[in-house]
Amino acid sequence: MITDAIHAFLLCPTPDAWIDWAEGEPELMLIDHANCEKKAAGTALNLMYRYIDDFELLNKMSRLAREELRHFEQVIAIMQKRGISYKPVSASRYAAELRKPIRTFEPARLIDTLIVGAIIEARSCERFEKLAPKLDDELQKFYLSLLKSEARHFEDYLALAQKAAGDERIDERVQFFLELERSLVEAEDSEFRFHSGVQGQA
Ligand SMILES: [Fe+2]
Ligand SMILES: [Fe+2]
Repeated sequence: MITDAIHAFLLCPTPDAWIDWAEGEPELMLIDHANCEKKAAGTALNLMYRYIDDFELLNKMSRLAREELRHFEQVIAIMQKRGISYKPVSASRYAAELRKPIRTFEPARLIDTLIVGAIIEARSCERFEKLAPKLDDELQKFYLSLLKSEARHFEDYLALAQKAAGDERIDERVQFFLELERSLVEAEDSEFRFHSGVQGQA
């Protein structure tokens, strides 16, 4: 299965409690999903501005940004069809907390940014797959169609991180961010988001 590598990579599955929460927040889920696609494109574009000397990175990030914008268009088309208005929704703490430990000197900054990118792509992919059977036909089909590109984004980010590190192994750094990610996914959050933890007080 295309998601086998993702399940092997992440340290925990999305808790069932988050899936239940998502089922009760169909509009918010789509709005925040649209935001996630937009942010994913933005992250790729930022890398293209910052690292102009790497053709492989430029090419992969440009392609990734286009795919994320295409996903964004698909999400807002579904929102429009369903009469869901695009209201401002604050970002979950997930990405901000994951980015906090990113080192500030190069090439560590690039390596960490790419590792965090890989983890966010992997978790999104895992959530689409786990959510799909709970959704109506249209959304189910759409979410399953996203798996393939998100799984490739995960692999691209991870390969670019290893390349940026050269001979140095990135395993320990990956493990560090994965453990932080698991703690965010299993923690309680007061507001539902695509990357929130489980419903609780936080
Ligand atoms: Fe996407
Ligand atoms: Fe993606």
